[in-house]
Amino acid sequence: MINIRQARAGDEIGMQNCNLTNLPENYEMKYYLYHFATWPTLSFVAENEKGRLVGYVLAKMNEEDTTGQPDGHITSLSVMRSYRRLGLAERLMNQSQRAMLEAYGSSCVSLHVRVSNQAAFSLYKKTLKFE
Ligand code: ACO
Repeated sequence: MINIRQARAGDEIGMQNCNLTNLPENYEMKYYLYHFATWPTLSFVAENEKGRLVGYVLAKMNEEDTTGQPDGHITSLSVMRSYRRLGLAERLMNQSQRAMLEAYGSSCVSLHVRVSNQAAFSLYKKTLKFE
C-alpha cells in the first residue's frame, strides 16, 4: 500500500534519492529544506509500506509576481520506476494543486517539462489538462 502525505524536514534524503535516480535536474539538500520552510503545505511524498519514499512532488509559489495573481510552480516531480503507472504522479500533482488553491488562492500553476519527455508531457497535457 502506498501512502501520500505532506513532505516534511527529514524527507529531503529520500526525495533527493528519487530525484537523482530519475532526473537530470538535481538540487542541493538545502533547496528541499527551503521549499519545506517557505511553503510547508505544497510538497508531497509517496511512501511504500516500509516507509521508503517512492515518489514526490516539490512545489512552491512563484516569487516573482508576473501576472498579479498568486501563481504556483511545480519545481520537480518524480516516481520510482517500479511504482509507475499506478496513478501516483497524478495524485501527487492533484494534492499539491489543491494545497496551492486552499493556502494561497492560486488557480494557476506553471512548470517546465521537456517536449521529448513523453510520459510527463502526457501526464500534464492529457491527464491534468495543462495548456
Ligand atoms: N507513457 C505515456 N503516458 C504516460 C506514461 C508513459 N510512460 N506514464 C504516465 N503517463 C501519463 C498517462 O496519461 C497516465 O494516465 P493513464 O495511466 O490513465 O494512461 C498519466 O500520465 C498518469 O500517470 P501516473 O501513473 O500518475 O504517472 P506515474 O506515477 O507513472 O509518473 C512520471 C509519471 C512522474 C512522469 C514518471 O514517469 C517519472 O518519474 N518520470 C521520470 C521523471 C520525470 O520525468 N519527471 C517529470 C519531469 S517535469 C517536472 O519535474 C516539472
